[in-house]
Amino acid sequence: MRRPIRIAVTGAAGSIASHLLFKIAAGEMFGKDQPVILQLIEIPQAMEVLLGLAMELEDCAFPLLHTITLHDNVEEGFNNVHYALLIGATPRRPGMERSDLLEKNAAIFAKQGKALNDFANRDVKALIVGNPANTNALVAARNAPKLSPSQFTTLTRLDQNRAVGLLANHTGVNPKDIDGVIIWGNHSTTQFPDLYQSTLYGRPAMPVIPMDWYTETYMPAVQRRGAAILDKRGVSSAPSAAQAIVDHMHDWALGTKPGQIVSMGIASDGSYGIAKGIYYSFPVRCDYGRYQIVQGIDLNEFQQSMLVATEAELLEERAGVDHLLPKDTEATH
Ligand code: NAD
Ligand code: LMR
Repeated sequence: MRRPIRIAVTGAAGSIASHLLFKIAAGEMFGKDQPVILQLIEIPQAMEVLLGLAMELEDCAFPLLHTITLHDNVEEGFNNVHYALLIGATPRRPGMERSDLLEKNAAIFAKQGKALNDFANRDVKALIVGNPANTNALVAARNAPKLSPSQFTTLTRLDQNRAVGLLANHTGVNPKDIDGVIIWGNHSTTQFPDLYQSTLYGRPAMPVIPMDWYTETYMPAVQRRGAAILDKRGVSSAPSAAQAIVDHMHDWALGTKPGQIVSMGIASDGSYGIAKGIYYSFPVRCDYGRYQIVQGIDLNEFQQSMLVATEAELLEERAGVDHLLPKDTEATH
């Protein structure tokens, strides 16, 4: 039997976590032979609810669930963790734009970056989900000078899954037979759902996709899916977000399938001309716990303009949190 790994989850009593924790404990994220210790973190007011959720986890008698610990502070909750899923944040309410959340949530992630730096395992892998996720990841990473920026990632797998799901629905092709769909940029309405590399049954998709449907129906549907769900449900997406978190962490930790491309928000290294340092969603492949940007994709003028537009939004977001970005990590992060 393997040694258990430690996984911290913030916002552990919230909507996403109430789906996610059961999937992790069932072995969907790290494999059916990997025991897990869940270090669950909430704000003090939510500790009673968290206790109830922990009781339900216990009542599932999951063989892989080694231990559950509950914490009302990140300093204890991040102690020695190998993985950190930073979900807790003030969620967007109907009518609110993501940018409204920027200032409010970035301060939370500065504190959490510091706590990861000081208390987590030195090889910790962190995923930032709380919105605005890309810029929160930047803030967390810049406040963790002892960790590499590559240890922080942000979730655009939900956008990728949405893009595949909507394409499958339109074409009648099973999602498993669709490959190469890429999300570039920010987890926001400026993201670029790119079908130019995508294939249906191994054959290029673009020749059979009408351009007006692509740009006027499909792209806005993917870009605005989060808001559409929020309008219908009154709360932001949770089961689908939990599934995307499982997919993201599974692939990061255990590797992507041969030839498979997935999208992850990661610190830009300047690839495709994107400003270094911002957390931008790129096409990647994962192996041995690392990810690498897929290089050499030829981008036409339209694609290039989409990449630049979403980069501009991230640069603007970065300017909005400049006071939370320590200057001494500017050169290294
Ligand atoms: P939720 O309101 O149901 O739960 C959030 C939980 O976080 C609450 O229980 C709250 O008490 C807790 N919390 C708040 N501040 C905290 C802190 N500082 N430390 C620990 N816990 C804290 O929200 P949710 O539906 O679970 O969504 C969580 C976040 O994920 C939101 O910011 C939402 O916008 C975002 N989200 C991102 C994606 C994505 O793809 N990146 C998708 C869906 C939702
Ligand atoms: C989503 O894409 O569903 C969420 O990011 C929406 C939100 O703002 O919580």
